[in-house]
Amino acid sequence: MTNASSHITDGGADPSYGSSYHVPVLCDAVVEHLITNPAGCYVDATLGGGGHAAALLDALAPAGRVIGIDQDAEALSATRARLSDAVAAGRLQVVRGNFERLAHLLTDVLELEAIDGLLLDLGVSSHQLDEADRGFSFQQEAPLDMRMDDRQGLTAHQVVNDWSEEDLREALWTYGEERAGARIARAIVDARPLDTTTALADAVRRVVPTREEVKTLARVFQGIRIAVNRELKALEAALQQAVDVLQIGGRMAVISYHSLEDRRVKRFFRHGNLQGEPRRDVYGNPVTPWNELTRKPLRASDAEIEANPRARSARLRIAERIAEPDLPAVP
Ligand SMILES: C[S@@+](CC[C@H](N)C(=O)[O-])C[C@H]1O[C@@H](n2cnc3c(N)ncnc32)[C@H](O)[C@@H]1O
Repeated sequence: MTNASSHITDGGADPSYGSSYHVPVLCDAVVEHLITNPAGCYVDATLGGGGHAAALLDALAPAGRVIGIDQDAEALSATRARLSDAVAAGRLQVVRGNFERLAHLLTDVLELEAIDGLLLDLGVSSHQLDEADRGFSFQQEAPLDMRMDDRQGLTAHQVVNDWSEEDLREALWTYGEERAGARIARAIVDARPLDTTTALADAVRRVVPTREEVKTLARVFQGIRIAVNRELKALEAALQQAVDVLQIGGRMAVISYHSLEDRRVKRFFRHGNLQGEPRRDVYGNPVTPWNELTRKPLRASDAEIEANPRARSARLRIAERIAEPDLPAVP
């Protein structure tokens, strides 16, 4: 078996599969619950620093393989280097793309028929947050960018400077779940032009109490980041397309970091649609392509949270692709 983790250059053969790029959360649970066929084909559609991919490769049989997708070029080159042996052995294929177009990437670009498992570990990586010039963090001065994919046109600068006050308020309310969204949107519009993360943070600070500053800034930056990267649209698209690309018996695992994501995943895994409405056939049987394996999401242990505080908000949900339910024989 290829020991993918042996390519971790910083921290050695770390059993947690972490690197200075990113420490993967709930790694053991992902491996344990996602793999149903050790010789199968698994897609990590949020490759990042490759921690989960490395763990999957180690757990799979030599014939098992992983397709790693990310829209961020830095993630792909870091992971290509980290897991170069697996790439050379043909066990890891690294692809730049947005999981919003998952079915197109897998079917048209890679010409795959069906996959055995799919992982989405949502949001941004530690590397993206730590790299000041990416503009994701309110703690470091940088141009307002926040794009995961630098080929994309829309930047945080445009959202902050060009969007109407109403659209900005909507983004802060909906994506940042920020109750003071109206006041903050007004403050941002009044302070324009805003060119940097720190200028944006200062405009927000002017209208929030000091004791709420950090949490408010986190919500504001989250809201703008989600708007820039159209994160919820991409998640919804990937959930819907997963039904078509997974084999019957294959599994999907999603790690969410806030309730906007988790709510969508929960509804989709429970009822097979994004509205969360149970559908029944004429006999009253639930009609869904999923068997939800986690009624309650799996959470990180205290020890994992202590070692990696980012794990605190992580929720892992897993579902198995099932055939449409057999209809009872008509008497
Ligand atoms: C939380 S990190 C994943 C970390 C990874 N599991 C690891 O072990 O290092 C999320 C990654 O997903 C990527 N990403 C987020 N949304 C994406 C999308 N719609 N399409 C493709 N990649 C996306 C980000 O660029 C980031 O690298």
